[in-house]
Amino acid sequence: MEIVIRPTAAEVHTTVADIVEGYVRSGHVTLGLATGSSPLGSYQELARRHREEGLDFSGARAFLLDEYVGIPKGHEQSYFSVIRSEFVDHVNLDPALVSSPNGEAENIDAEARRYDAVIAAAGGVDVQLLGIGTDGHIGFNEPGSSLTSRTRVKTLTEQTRIDNARFFDSVDDVPHHVLTQGLGTISEARHLVMIALGEGKADAIAAAVEGPLAAFCPASVMQLHRHVTVVIDEAAATGLKLADYYRYAVEHKPASQRF
Ligand code: F6R
Repeated sequence: MEIVIRPTAAEVHTTVADIVEGYVRSGHVTLGLATGSSPLGSYQELARRHREEGLDFSGARAFLLDEYVGIPKGHEQSYFSVIRSEFVDHVNLDPALVSSPNGEAENIDAEARRYDAVIAAAGGVDVQLLGIGTDGHIGFNEPGSSLTSRTRVKTLTEQTRIDNARFFDSVDDVPHHVLTQGLGTISEARHLVMIALGEGKADAIAAAVEGPLAAFCPASVMQLHRHVTVVIDEAAATGLKLADYYRYAVEHKPASQRF
């Protein structure tokens, strides 16, 4: 696991965009996209590179991590809609190749199995962007999620519903249920890139990176993965005991070693 601490949010997004750009330039790539506020600046930077530098997404396809259950696809806060308005509409990524779990499916368990199968049939995800919840969730795998779980329905904690109320008129409008890739599904992506910004994420980042591997902090599953880059700002790094070492390691990174 590599921990990259950047002075500002803007520099976090530049680093994340650099990583994603490397994959996109290599040709056919499968991106794993997160929603929520953390990756928005990275999406804006990638859109700018598309517009101004010709970064070409025509060889890319993408899978979303999760979707709310109980709001229609056309709702402005469905993740189907959000990823389009925040990212896909601003690059030349074919919207038909941007897949997400269908939170409106009649048979939600069958939909969960179908989604895992479609990701596998596409050859898996090359690079998966992740945010982290204040309770340590990734995707919407709340504390207690099996570390090997597959895509399935989860019940959001009250804390996550309160955290996400800012996207809705009120907390009462935040759905209780979601369809989310499991921790096992997410772990199959070949490269995990976590983005965290602000002091509010400091405890979750410390638990995920330096705490025990435990279902209590779902993001700690990253400790088992062979290729993880955690890109955070100074505020999100304030709980890390080894922050100085992480900075030192990045400064002394062998030139041959990429993120
Ligand atoms: C969303 C997702 C969630 C968010 C997390 C952090 O697709 O998977 O895990 O990444 O809730 O949300 P923000 O970035 O809004 O703080």
